[in-house]
Amino acid sequence: HHNCFSTSAPTQNAINNITVFGSGLMGAGITQVAAQNGYKVTMVDLDEQYLQKGHDIINASLKRVGKKLYIDDEAKQKELIDSTFANITTSTDSSKSVEAADLVVEAIVENLETKQKLFSTLDKAAPGHTIFTSNTSSLPISDIAQATTRPEKFAGLHFFNPVPQMKLVEVVRTDKTSQETFDTLVEITKKLKKEPVACKDTPGFIVNRLLVPYLLEAMRLVERGEANPQDVDTAMKLGAGMPMGPFELGDFVGLDTLKFIVDGWRKGGKIDANLVEPVKILDELVAAGHLGKKSGKGFKSY
Ligand code: 3HC
Repeated sequence: HHNCFSTSAPTQNAINNITVFGSGLMGAGITQVAAQNGYKVTMVDLDEQYLQKGHDIINASLKRVGKKLYIDDEAKQKELIDSTFANITTSTDSSKSVEAADLVVEAIVENLETKQKLFSTLDKAAPGHTIFTSNTSSLPISDIAQATTRPEKFAGLHFFNPVPQMKLVEVVRTDKTSQETFDTLVEITKKLKKEPVACKDTPGFIVNRLLVPYLLEAMRLVERGEANPQDVDTAMKLGAGMPMGPFELGDFVGLDTLKFIVDGWRKGGKIDANLVEPVKILDELVAAGHLGKKSGKGFKSY
């Protein structure tokens, strides 16, 4: 049935406008992928400087994608960049940026109070039908959702780094997430040309719950003097088909991020204590500011 009333509110499932909070690596990546797939995206951050960085991340990534897709066709490469940016606007005004949003994806700093404060504000400014999601990898979705009056329209939407490359999205439902919200998010994930998987709101969801203990165990193995990091990386790439070895991947994800996740899990007490025991080399590298690829040095130098 075609609805010809131009003033009618969008149906629950019609997602046209997406507002992404955070213009860091994850927020920029999510903005890019949504814009590339035809959504109108507003990218929001605290000030213009951050937004400019996000713009640069997207630009560099699109250049890379364009070169792979259209090897010798510079016009097409340029068109990809132009058409994607045509779908992106930026804003530093949180409330205003969600007035026409059908979906919010939050990818700001991993701090519960900061996220709750943001969502409490958005809850008042966004239309009733707007679905709220968080890209958090370390905080319970239900704790963030508590700050809103729409827990049935709140879920986790967890992307992986680098967002334009990684095909997976974990769609995380709390006890209160409605089936309709979940189904809508699964549909959107597919429209972003990603593969959705469903997971309950548990520490680490699927990927990090398995990946993080593995990365820590690789560090413990090296601490015990059983092998060196290079050989562990080679072993897991050539012997287990991993695209990156655990040390390479730890540096790539960010050692501070890893430590933050593990420390949170330890405090949370929901995961076997042996799995999240502190690892000395990890704590030392982070304390020294060696956070991995982004800081120029971690387990390896860049
Ligand atoms: N946009 C942005 N960055 C891109 C990109 C794109 N379109 N394509 C590639 N990259 C980046 C990589 O970071 C790396 O950067 P560099 O060139 O500046 O050193 C480089 O590009 C590698 O790209 P290559 O073209 O050489 O390699 P491939 O494209 O063949 O594969 C890869 C790269 C897809 C990253 C592959 O190595 C891989 O799958 N690695 C594992 C990544 C992974 O496991 N990610 C999940 C981490 S866990 C997580 O994100 C959860 C969080 O909550 C902690």
